[in-house]
Amino acid sequence: MKNVIVLGASGNIAKHVIDILVKKDDINLTLFLRNKSRLRNYDISKCRVVEGNVLDLKQLKDAVAGQDIIYANLAGDLEAMAKNIVKAMGEKGVKKLIFISSIGIYDSPLKSVLKPYRKAADVIEASDLEYTILRPTWFTNADEVDYETTRKGEPEKGSVISQKSLATLITKIIEFPENYIRENLGVNKPNS
Ligand SMILES: NC(=O)c1ccc[n+]([C@@H]2O[C@H](COP(=O)([O-])OP(=O)(O)OC[C@H]3O[C@@H](n4cnc5c(N)ncnc54)[C@H](OP(=O)(O)O)[C@@H]3O)[C@@H](O)[C@H]2O)c1
Repeated sequence: MKNVIVLGASGNIAKHVIDILVKKDDINLTLFLRNKSRLRNYDISKCRVVEGNVLDLKQLKDAVAGQDIIYANLAGDLEAMAKNIVKAMGEKGVKKLIFISSIGIYDSPLKSVLKPYRKAADVIEASDLEYTILRPTWFTNADEVDYETTRKGEPEKGSVISQKSLATLITKIIEFPENYIRENLGVNKPNS
């Protein structure tokens, strides 16, 4: 069994990922979020739900203890959140982190709205974690799975990505984490 925790489990992408993961028998899923009434999933009967704040280091450390994979689907003060996540994972000996960032964080000049996303990525890359950072383009609700990835340093491609595609990629990383170690990937719909 693989222990997986979703930080920010009430988020849009997290909702899709949770819907896929609850159907897998080899995953023990923990949902970490500030307010559990915000969960919108149809079936979370097999999940452990923990109310907490990523900015509270003690709550975060307790939550990540014993986990194999941390999937962070967060918004807000992402630099402070990334620092707490790196610290909590280091102290609890957890190595694998999937962190959702954004397209455009290596653009120059950097848009001010993207600064927290860039800073968070810098914090994570400076750690010794087995991270996968994802930099998706703009989300759509299209009912399709169609995506490609670009590596860090390559020009980012495309302009949109369906939430379902991004969730599918995240699930694949959770299934095969060894294929995505210390990767920082742009994600887009081909030819968009
Ligand atoms: N929309 C786009 O087109 C687009 C494109 C590229 C990248 N992105 C980025 O991709 C990421 C994922 O997107 P999304 O749409 O799934 O995000 P979202 O729906 O805004 O989810 C973010 C989650 O973070 C949680 N959160 C915020 N502060 C927290 C804290 N201190 N402790 C615990 N949880 C906290 C929120 O929980 P609460 O319910 O407690 O508020 C919320 O559920 C976001 O950073 C987003 O900006 C978006």
